[in-house]
Amino acid sequence: MNFAVIGYPISHSLSPIMHHANFKALGRDDEYCALSIDPKHFHHIKDIIDEKALDGFNVTIPFKIDIMNYCDEIDTTAQMIGAVNTVLIKNNKWFGYNTDGLGYLLSMQDYLRDDMNVLILGAGGASRAISYTLMQNHRVTVANRSLERIQSWPFEIECLTYDRLDNLSRYDLVINTTPVGMTGYDEPSIIRCHNLNKSCVVSDIIYTPEKTAFLKEAKLQDLKIINGLGMFVMQGAKSFEIWTGDVADVEAMTLAVQTALKGRNQC
Ligand code: ATR
Repeated sequence: MNFAVIGYPISHSLSPIMHHANFKALGRDDEYCALSIDPKHFHHIKDIIDEKALDGFNVTIPFKIDIMNYCDEIDTTAQMIGAVNTVLIKNNKWFGYNTDGLGYLLSMQDYLRDDMNVLILGAGGASRAISYTLMQNHRVTVANRSLERIQSWPFEIECLTYDRLDNLSRYDLVINTTPVGMTGYDEPSIIRCHNLNKSCVVSDIIYTPEKTAFLKEAKLQDLKIINGLGMFVMQGAKSFEIWTGDVADVEAMTLAVQTALKGRNQC
């Protein structure tokens, strides 16, 4: 079978390495390539994909919203999230899904209990996917610089601006979905980790760098920290399952991504 990821820019994507590791581990001879699509040519996406005779593809920045206009059907979760990151092609029809939220949930299985108090920092696409998924079983609060974005979501969720954040000790899980704390962002982390409960799990959806400034600060407070590598792997594993109906080899995928990241860091 033939798969791809479309995006712009896309050359640094680890998806081809990750998916090939899975194909190899399962003894499959599928292909997965990275397709760079200039946004100026995105309106030709049907022809571009048809020409490649793909069975499915992943969608990344900046096309996760625009691709929805080209799907014949979009599942309910992707509609609520307002973005598609996985397209299944069957009988020439495009079926849109979003595996980001489920990928996050599965990557956190060891740390989630029912009914947790969850604080999500940021209100972009990743935040919406994680918020919608986690709110099915947990009490989720979303914090952002402004509330407009959150108020346009098609589901109701508790939200507040950063300056209204108090009583941080009530949260069991804090997730950073903003770029603050990445290399190059000089601003201090949005919340101060010493105000968190000692049992709070601190998660950042970024995985390059391996530890953002936010995670380093949490680590200094002896809190459990988790970066976004697991989410990346699990969203890919779920895409593979949508395309093939087979269970992905998550261990092989994780190892491939970790090895590729180590190689990059040595360059
Ligand atoms: P994605 O869709 O990949 O999750 P995004 O749409 O670029 O990312 O959203 C990024 C989030 O990070 C947004 O919530 C954004 O806040 P605003 O809605 O207020 O713009 C947040 N963000 C980006 N830069 C930030 C900064 N310097 N400080 C605080 N929040 C920031």
